[in-house]
Amino acid sequence: MKKIVLVGYMGSGKSTIGVKLAEQLNLPFFDLDQQIEKQYQTTISKIFQEKGEIYFRKLEHITLNNLLEKQTPMIISLGGGTPCYANNHESLQRDDVCSIYLKASIQTLANRLEKEKEHRPLIYNHNEDTLETFIAKHLFDRSYFYYQAKKILDIDNKTISQIVQEIIDLSN
Ligand code: S3P
Repeated sequence: MKKIVLVGYMGSGKSTIGVKLAEQLNLPFFDLDQQIEKQYQTTISKIFQEKGEIYFRKLEHITLNNLLEKQTPMIISLGGGTPCYANNHESLQRDDVCSIYLKASIQTLANRLEKEKEHRPLIYNHNEDTLETFIAKHLFDRSYFYYQAKKILDIDNKTISQIVQEIIDLSN
């Protein structure tokens, strides 16, 4: 049994889906951002503010590798940028990892993120007009890495339970 690793842009539902998936498969769940906050006793926003993004990417890389080293099945939800830095996408090619890209349209992401941008340092200062353009460009830059996931799942207009079931089918 493998580690199922959920990949995708901010707002694609990695954490919500990860929790449900772990419940259904009765496996331990790890949210990478939460692991970083727990381990370093701070928040993602504070790390960005006080130490900058490059420092955050270092902590993210170390925390991801610590999780991947565990020899047990688990569900992991990455941060939106995780596969795009520090060669993390290469670690995700391991045989015991089933990476799944939760692919959402720019419109879906913009609608969701407008409502939940406060704790996200990369987008909190955007307004409704600039957010969608930012997401479109950013997603374009990141897609190369997201598409290296072993499976791709379209999530637009699907319910959480539908997505969870499709992940279970894909990872079998
Ligand atoms: C980031 C996404 C965030 C968090 C950090 C950076 C990104 O995670 O890791 O703010 O670079 O896309 P979520 O995708 O869970 O919001």
